[in-house]
Amino acid sequence: MSTEQSIGYMNVPVPKDINLPEEINRLRKEKNAVILAHYYQTGDIQDIADFVGDSLALAQWAAKTTADIIVLCGVHFMGETAKILCPDKKVLVPDLNAGCSLADSCPAPDFAEFVKQHPGHTVISYVNTTAAVKAVTDVVVTSTNARQIVESFPPETKIIFGPDRNLGNYINSITGRDMILWNGACHVHEQFSLEKILELKFQYPDAEIITHPECKQPIIEVSDFVGSTAALLKYTITSDKNQFIVATESGVIHEMQKQSPDKLFISAPPNDSTCACNECVFMRLNTMEKLYNCLKFELPEIYVDEEVQKKAIQPIRRMLEISEQLGL
Ligand code: 13P
Ligand code: SF4
Repeated sequence: MSTEQSIGYMNVPVPKDINLPEEINRLRKEKNAVILAHYYQTGDIQDIADFVGDSLALAQWAAKTTADIIVLCGVHFMGETAKILCPDKKVLVPDLNAGCSLADSCPAPDFAEFVKQHPGHTVISYVNTTAAVKAVTDVVVTSTNARQIVESFPPETKIIFGPDRNLGNYINSITGRDMILWNGACHVHEQFSLEKILELKFQYPDAEIITHPECKQPIIEVSDFVGSTAALLKYTITSDKNQFIVATESGVIHEMQKQSPDKLFISAPPNDSTCACNECVFMRLNTMEKLYNCLKFELPEIYVDEEVQKKAIQPIRRMLEISEQLGL
């Protein structure tokens, strides 16, 4: 089936009188499917998923599932990572157009050329990359394990880090390394307004600013805590503070609020007050209707070229092995 036909099935009208959660549950059982969702999905999708997690957790769950079908409620590179790890399983994403501006900022041929221009360097890539970029990578990282994986290499190791310049700069600053960075960024995390965050801090002086390391340096500098999506969530659960200004995609506030119903979470505002730029447009393409269609038709499916898969699985496995050793 062509990609166009496959995309067509995503938008088949869903009968108005069906109970979507019930039907999704029925199909998931009938087909031995597992639903994995990222924290940036809408609340209804997070609530129905078998597992909700950050990029590292999604890869870890995909690697160990016994389900026949993996439905990855996230973006394309997350589906690709699951498919690379489980080439014999059917991996579906509710909307095949759910891309990632960060992965798009690093075209594989250009990155391969960049790697060629820096012989003798270890290549560390963020998981937010295409399978073809992972295929020219030595070890993949996520924001949860990037620091520890970089530090697992001797200090004199020459490293190329891509594609997120903000995460790369942050890791350089906390490890004292001098990694060569690819110049990529995420359109959501780059949009936060320092001015508006400081205004909020003035309004809520007791609130802590908590920030994802894909944000720009000035935001990181005024933050009380910097961490991956899962680390931010854990921080809000364990902290004795009751108010947080959250500088990452606002979807994670759903789980933060569920875990700490009495605490106040304020989504950090973007520069442009006319848009909801603290929501990832790609992540939000997935809907309950598309999730239902995806389970019903078993489409759209993620495919990865066999040669690329064989190369890309090595740096992902390396990441999972190091993470396991580190207890992450
Ligand atoms: P984590 O899931 O590693 O926190 O990454 C955030 C992100 O932007 C995912 O696309
Ligand atoms: Fe990509 Fe940014 Fe969306 Fe994450 S939030 S999927 S990095 S565009």
